[in-house]
Formats: sequence, structure tokens, C-alpha cells
Amino acid sequence: MTSPEIASSRARFRSRRTLQFTESVIREMTRLAIQHDAVNLAQGFPDFGAPEEIKRAAQDAIASDVNQYAITWGAKLFREAIGAKYRKWHGIDYDPEREITVCCGATEGMIAALLAVTNPGDEIIIFEPYYENYGPDALLCEAKRKLVRLRPPDWTFDPDELRRAFSLKTKAIILNSPNNPTGKVFTRAELQAIADLCQEFDVLAITDEIYEHIIYEGASHIPIATLPGMRDRTILVNSMSKTYSVTGWRVGFVLAAPDLSDSIRKVHDFLTVGAAAPLQQAGVVALNLPDSYYEKLSVEYQKRRDLLSQRLEQAGFRCYRPNGAYYVMTDISGFGFKDDLSFVRHMIENVGVAAVPGSSFFLDSNAGTALIRFCFCKKYETLEKAGDRLRRI
Ligand SMILES: Cc1ncc(COP(=O)(O)O)c(C=O)c1O
Repeated sequence: MTSPEIASSRARFRSRRTLQFTESVIREMTRLAIQHDAVNLAQGFPDFGAPEEIKRAAQDAIASDVNQYAITWGAKLFREAIGAKYRKWHGIDYDPEREITVCCGATEGMIAALLAVTNPGDEIIIFEPYYENYGPDALLCEAKRKLVRLRPPDWTFDPDELRRAFSLKTKAIILNSPNNPTGKVFTRAELQAIADLCQEFDVLAITDEIYEHIIYEGASHIPIATLPGMRDRTILVNSMSKTYSVTGWRVGFVLAAPDLSDSIRKVHDFLTVGAAAPLQQAGVVALNLPDSYYEKLSVEYQKRRDLLSQRLEQAGFRCYRPNGAYYVMTDISGFGFKDDLSFVRHMIENVGVAAVPGSSFFLDSNAGTALIRFCFCKKYETLEKAGDRLRRI
């Protein structure tokens, strides 16, 4: 075989599944930021330390040889701590033996849940703009995305548009509140409208609640599972990543009725076997932190939100003020650039600040081109440094 023939034969080693999506734009921005020494306000991970007590608990667990596989669906003490936390915070009971599954981050929780409940050709409703993983998740399940727009400035949805998205083929709706990238926290009335449609069309709610403890100005996080008729129709996905500033630990969990958990556990077992055992032990310490920890988390992030928003506005951005999560979506129409990608590239290469182009949160890459997302889960000095550089735009 000649070299070109050999090269072209390599194409048969690419599955059709992988040809349908590209690598994560957010992680690509992080790489570009490193290359150009830009302040990275693209990828949502803190650049400050995790709480001392949970780091110590992880070290102790390794030193005392919690170093072998935990039970596939999660260490018993950790599952019990998760159950106790949901009882305390949301007044909802999940049986740690049959309804709680520990997995490798919300990322695994979400795809394991989707693989467990969908068949090829099923429809999944997603609010758009959306966290980019949901796209490849749906494609890997060979499910069809039905999108419902969240519209600025409040990122509300049109109830008629939502109703039109439901059909006999709909298997699930993905609900991420507090929301990445918009910062929207869905209200009880909005959740009720979604819950009513789920019940009318016999559809599951698969929720991504990883920002539940990062909320501002009196907004409250309501798991849709707590609404009447929704407990056994909800697959609740959460994680330690954002609440305890340990995105690299890869520890998440999925709460669902026993029949759903059975299927999710099967997928989880063969995808990853389980999450890191010593980190699950440290998770018990994390989930038992006092209420003051969570209060401080929101207060701290609100200060960072206000600092970054002020600096962005001074530089000419229009900010959509988030009620939750740690991102601020901005409008860049005033700058006169061709689109979001050229603007972000200019920012990384010439200004020294990285952010995420808005179009990466939409299925149609022509949408969201006037939007840029910044994250503010960074040290004050990092945000100040970015603020100073933003004057160069
Ligand atoms: C909405 C949302 N879900 C899930 C994740 C990933 O969560 P994990 O680290 O638990 O896999 C992120 C990370 O940014 C996110 O923003």
C-alpha cells in the first residue's frame, strides 16, 4: 500500500458516533489560554484551594489504605451522607441502598443516566443555550435533541414553545438549574410548568444540579424532584466538583427511583466501575460541613460576580447578571467584531484574557454569536488582573 492509501484507510477506525461532534470548545480555549499566557476565565474551575478539612480527609483515607475499589455504586458511608444531606436540605428521602449511585462526576452521571433510559431515535428536550456536554451525550445515545430557547435578559422560556417540544417520542428533558451558561435559577412556577408537561407526556426530568449551593440575592434552588408527582420521574445528578471546589476529584452522584437506578448502575459499572475510593471517604467529611460553609460559598461568589461584572461593564460589555452558578454571560454587540469566535481569539491573543464564545452553547453555530461567557470562580487577584487587561480591548 502507498502512504496515501494507508492514510485513507485510517478513516475506518473512526466510528460514525465520534464524527458527529468536535472536541470541547471550552477545553480548547483553556489550551489556547495556556499557549498565550492569558488569564483563563474560560473553563469553570477554581484557581484557589479546596477546603483544608476535606483535603486532610483525602490524605488520611489514602494513608489508612482506602485504596481499593469501593462498592460499584459507591461507598456505603458516602451514600448515607448523600441521603442525609438531601433529607436535611430538601426534605426528600432517597434510599442509599437502592436509589443513590456514586459516579465519576456529574459528567458520568449524566451520560450513564441517558444511556440507561433512552433508545436510539428517542427525543430529548434541552433548554438552549446549554452546557456543551449535553450535545455529545445525546449523540452518543443516538437520541434526537429538541431545543427550547431561553431568552435574555431573564433567560425565560416560552411555555408554548416548550409544549410544542414535547411529543410521544420524548423520553426526557434535561434541566440544569442553577444554569450554566446563563446563571438562570428556574423559579417554582417554571419548574411546575415543566413538571406538568413531564406528567402529561410521561417524560423523565434528568436534572443537573451541580451549582445548587451557588445562588445569589435570595434566589432559592428547588429540585424538581420535590414537586408533587416528580420524585420517581426525576433522575437527579449532582457532584462534589463545584460545591467543594474539587473539580479534579471526579466524584458525582445520581439519585433516582430503584428501577431507574438499577439501569443506571448497570451502565455505570461497565463504564467506570466506580469513583475514587479515598475521595468518596473524604466526601463524607465534605457533605457534613456546617451550613455556614454553604452560606459563605454563595457570599464569596457573589462578591466575585460583582467585581468581574463591574470590570466587564467598564470595558464595554453588557452583562446579564446571573442569579446562580459562577459564570456571567455578556453581549459583545457594541464592539463591532465579526462574531464571537474572532472576538475571543482577539481577547486571548492580544488582550490576554480567555473566555468562551457564546455559539458553543447553541446547536446552530450561527446562534449566540453576540455572546461571550466569562467565569468568576477565581482568586480576586486573578479577576483584578483580568480586569486590568480588559482595558486593552
Ligand atoms: C452544568 C454542568 N454540569 C456538569 C459539569 C461537570 O461536572 P463534573 O465535574 O461533576 O463532571 C459542569 C462543569 O463545568 C457544568 O457546568
